[in-house]
Amino acid sequence: MSSSTPAPRGVVLVGYRGTGKSTVGRIVAARLGRPFVDADNALEARVGRSIRSIFEEDGEAAFRDHEEAVLADLTSRPGHVLATGGGAVLREANRAALKRFGLVVWLKADPDVLAGRLRQNQSGVSTRPALTAAGTLGEIAEVLRVRTPFYRDVADVEVATDGSTPEQVAEAVLSALDRQ
Ligand code: S3P
Repeated sequence: MSSSTPAPRGVVLVGYRGTGKSTVGRIVAARLGRPFVDADNALEARVGRSIRSIFEEDGEAAFRDHEEAVLADLTSRPGHVLATGGGAVLREANRAALKRFGLVVWLKADPDVLAGRLRQNQSGVSTRPALTAAGTLGEIAEVLRVRTPFYRDVADVEVATDGSTPEQVAEAVLSALDRQ
């Protein structure tokens, strides 16, 4: 029907590990009364294994194939709030799917802040696979150098998270959505 109401725009959070995509996404979804979905959790449920085990046993390329399939599925759900894995922007097909899905918000943080957050999360056994052999800060610098152009390409809005609580970051995301 040509007169049907357009599907509500989704909201998608992209950014490096440790920028708070899932925590902020949950708050934004609750405030909007919309469903929240975490692409990494959806991937693990679909494949039936942890991300760490997929990386270790099958390699990163296999993980990226699963990620692309999951994102194609999740971005077909109108109006959801979606948190993506940090590398979701690497593939052109993913970036195109995220742009079609809705407002793309890039959560940013200073590399030192990210390193501190990631080290805190890794105080026990790490569940996050290493992406390079460069150590936490070296890896952040290396990976950000490669990914920054992709984050910039896909994002409608950039939100700095340094020194902000997840609630404050969620507020900034909601204001950006209001302005659209
Ligand atoms: C990855 C980030 C992870 C997860 C996987 C790969 C990356 O998601 O998708 O370990 O390449 O940056 P988070 O950003 O949620 O940690």
